[in-house]
Amino acid sequence: MEPAPCCSASYSYDDYKETADWLLARTNKQPKVAIICGSGLGSLADLLKDKVVFPYKDIPRFPTSTVVAGHAGRLVFGKLNGRECVCMQGRFHFYEGYSIQTVTYPVRVFSLLGVESLIVTNAAGGLNDSYNVGDIMVIKDHINLPGFCGQNPLVGHNDDSFGVRFPCMSDAYDRDLRALAFQTAQEQNCDSFLQEGVYCMVAGPSYETIAECNVLQTFGADAVGMSTVPEVVVARHCGLRVLGLSLITNKVVTDYDSDVKVNHEEVLATTEIRAQDLQRLVSHLVTKI
Ligand SMILES: *[C@@H]1O[C@H](CO)[C@@H](O)[C@H](O)[C@H]1NC(C)=O
Repeated sequence: MEPAPCCSASYSYDDYKETADWLLARTNKQPKVAIICGSGLGSLADLLKDKVVFPYKDIPRFPTSTVVAGHAGRLVFGKLNGRECVCMQGRFHFYEGYSIQTVTYPVRVFSLLGVESLIVTNAAGGLNDSYNVGDIMVIKDHINLPGFCGQNPLVGHNDDSFGVRFPCMSDAYDRDLRALAFQTAQEQNCDSFLQEGVYCMVAGPSYETIAECNVLQTFGADAVGMSTVPEVVVARHCGLRVLGLSLITNKVVTDYDSDVKVNHEEVLATTEIRAQDLQRLVSHLVTKI
């Protein structure tokens, strides 16, 4: 049996540095772009050329994955459409039992590797009535619901070498990168299913009740999921530019008479259908960052 992931953790600058230095000593690649692949979207990393691959379990201090369908656990360096990138094939979720600091550990490592821009992808439930299954939502803003309840990865001692105590979040999702996503989608003929909206994070792993979905809609959220926000908070704290993309894999149920039931298999099946479009979008976009 795998040891249970650590439920509370605090890391020092030296921990992140040790991981980054270990990686830098083993690859001569210096990516400026990092990509975190969401559920079922890990095949993006397979498109990289001249790959150098590190299973998480081999990287010092790096968290190791528990296996969830649709997630691998490896860091992949390589060229995406000619552009040097580093991809997380499989991310860490709070619902797996990792502390919120462990979930975001890789982001600070990226920063120490010299990464300047972070692209995060996820699978999300559509809350906005005008969204269709298979739409891709460019994240314009987020609602950090776990943060409302004290689960913010920046809680605790602030390490000034990464960022300030009270980081601004009103510019969390880079305006230029969002515009670039729309421009690229137009060029790639996939703008017909591109949306822009607000992503709300819930801890999971249970999906939302009908009452909870109604609350999230009232809050102004367009999509809901169980990831992304902690990584974005930490990325902004250390000055990375962020682009977030949500693949709408299902529409949430808001009607008590509905017999529709969300399940993970269906989410993965939808992801597979649109994953290629998302990959195409990301791989053309990275060359322009
Ligand atoms: C839903 O999405 C549409 C299209 O992007 C947007 O115009 C609208 O403001 C969003 N929100 C609601 C509550 O409909």
